[in-house]
Amino acid sequence: MNATACADFFHFFRSYVSNPWQVSAIAPSGQSLARLMTQEIVPGAGPVIELGPGTGIFTRALIQRGVPERDLLLVEYGSDFVRLLQDRFPNARVLWMDARQLSQYEPFLAPASAAVSGLPLLAMPPRKVIAILTGVFRHMREGASLYQFTYGPRCPVPRPILDRLGLKAGLVGRTALNIPPASVYRIRRRALRRI
Ligand SMILES: C[S@@+](CC[C@H](N)C(=O)[O-])C[C@H]1O[C@@H](n2cnc3c(N)ncnc32)[C@H](O)[C@@H]1O
Repeated sequence: MNATACADFFHFFRSYVSNPWQVSAIAPSGQSLARLMTQEIVPGAGPVIELGPGTGIFTRALIQRGVPERDLLLVEYGSDFVRLLQDRFPNARVLWMDARQLSQYEPFLAPASAAVSGLPLLAMPPRKVIAILTGVFRHMREGASLYQFTYGPRCPVPRPILDRLGLKAGLVGRTALNIPPASVYRIRRRALRRI
């Protein structure tokens, strides 16, 4: 583990101890999961929203993929993480807010081309999950996808919520090289049927 990864681990662990429900993991995600989360993102296609970036492991993977830092909109609730993200990614827009309030946020200059989420959806009540998904899709263009990881055996957004919001989910892949092993799902709007 290099010095940054080590510092991130302790930062993360401290945040977990002071707020286990919000952080929901004792360590940041690994590189393998970061690659899986970002492999379908097209650099230069427009703004990318990240929900719950924590110490910024997916943020860094997005930048390494070629997404300009100024195209990143980071939505984080933990104040310690917010300060760290502002220091590390000075050209990204960092919003210190609960992701459930995204709906009330003014539309961004250009609709996002994609979103990635490290939010612990399984630990949230359905009403909050609905508010977050409604908000994030409000800021994304037609056909854009949200990438969400989970440690669970299936998509962390239950079928009734997907149906209610007109969304569909598909598995992108799984990685055993994460602690714990994780899966990534692509969530997007269903195509409207012509009648
Ligand atoms: C499991 S950690 C994932 C962090 C990072 N993406 C990673 O994979 O290492 C969950 C993150 O979501 C943030 N978070 C939890 N609930 C949130 C909410 N309602 N709005 C914004 N951020 C939230 C936490 O503060 C934490 O940074």
